[in-house]
Amino acid sequence: MAEVNVSAEHEYTVRITGDWRGDLSPIINKRQRVAVIFPATLASELPTFNLSETEVSLLPVPDGEAGKSSHVLTHIWGELARLNFTRSDLIVAVGGGTITDLAGFAAASWLRGIDWVAVPTTLAGMVDASVGGKTGINSPFGKNLIGAFHSPISVLIDSSWLRTLSNRDFAAGLAEVVKCGFIDDEEILTLIEGKNVQEIRSNASLVNSLIERSVTTKAKVVSNDFKESELREILNYGHTFGHAIERVSGYSIRHGEAVSIGMVFVAELAYAQGLIDEALLKLHRTALSSLGLPISLSSVEGGKNWESLYAAMALDKKARGNSIRFVVLHKIGECSRLESVTEEQLKSAYEKVLV
Ligand code: GLY
Repeated sequence: MAEVNVSAEHEYTVRITGDWRGDLSPIINKRQRVAVIFPATLASELPTFNLSETEVSLLPVPDGEAGKSSHVLTHIWGELARLNFTRSDLIVAVGGGTITDLAGFAAASWLRGIDWVAVPTTLAGMVDASVGGKTGINSPFGKNLIGAFHSPISVLIDSSWLRTLSNRDFAAGLAEVVKCGFIDDEEILTLIEGKNVQEIRSNASLVNSLIERSVTTKAKVVSNDFKESELREILNYGHTFGHAIERVSGYSIRHGEAVSIGMVFVAELAYAQGLIDEALLKLHRTALSSLGLPISLSSVEGGKNWESLYAAMALDKKARGNSIRFVVLHKIGECSRLESVTEEQLKSAYEKVLV
């Protein structure tokens, strides 16, 4: 068991625990009403909550990006109203990143903010989405436009949930772990060196150590810049191009897979500007490809369409400032922001990740 503390609008602990249910008990025992929001696909994995003092309601919602909608959020609000949810009641989100984003936003918006606990069940959720207090829903107007910063009061990470993931989803989560290796913690890259996904996931102590190290990186960044005025942007390493890939592919690719290609793209961009050496550029390709993650656009739907990718990156810019900007490395653990990049420079990096 390990604990990592996060200091945001309030302090909270991320517990890497072998027993999420046991750790949840003392938290929910103190509440009059608890709503557990979870994807219907995990219904058979949930324990029964028989508590004498607490009324526990189960609220299944659709899984995936489709569930992170205003329609589902309105349904949740309706359920909270029906249950007479008060400000001292609690939401527990059990699921992947889309569920913790949705349930966290329900908690942020109900009565102007009630407490919630995150129980992430995917690797991407454990090392990224559930930590840091970013919550929200999708909308037709663009990505990440509707949401709130609203931290959970506790995050309970139990890696036994990971048995429910396919190798592909596990690898997609590892992309965010590798990201933490590049931006902050070189030991992560050493720990995974030469190992494939199966070798990693069958080694529980390695998995827990990778989770703890990644959460430590995320907690450190979020605790220093909760509302992303500057430093927190380093968590978006590989994401500017990654978001563009997700968009042009019609979200047919996993977020982590898009970020994997996005990290190789931005490494090419940094290499062309003389910011990183060839060894570090190569390390991006070897570290990611040995996990079975894509490092080129060759199999991405719409990936050969530079105009669409460029337009999608420009859209991303709308949400973040006036120019398309990138987090780049100088060396492992040392990042800065690259702005005012020309389309020609971007296209040249794109050509390096085409095949
Ligand atoms: N996933 C990036 C962040 O939490 O800031």
